[in-house]
Amino acid sequence: MAKWIDVMPAKALSAGAYALIVLDEVELILVNINGSFYAVENVCSHDGGDLIEGEIDGDEITCPRHGARFCLRTGEALCAPAFEDIDSYITRVVDGKIQVFDEPQ
Ligand code: FES
Repeated sequence: MAKWIDVMPAKALSAGAYALIVLDEVELILVNINGSFYAVENVCSHDGGDLIEGEIDGDEITCPRHGARFCLRTGEALCAPAFEDIDSYITRVVDGKIQVFDEPQ
């Protein structure tokens, strides 16, 4: 059954910071964008690149392998060579802890 999972204290991830987390054996990028937390899968939909190795600019991440860009808020694929969105996960803060729902939106 899907559930909320505590991942880290909210104060551990300041604005602009990001971290790799593992949720039920799935790697996710957890990022703080202007005080709001977002989580997307760490696998590029083009050819499986590790997105966490890519450059983050605002709410976009660029895959280090062939340059596809994704929205960190929604997982939307923003340019070729990726045409499929990546999974995104909803987050919330409870008692100072970031929680991620363990099923993609
Ligand atoms: S694996 Fe990410 S753009 Fe090709």
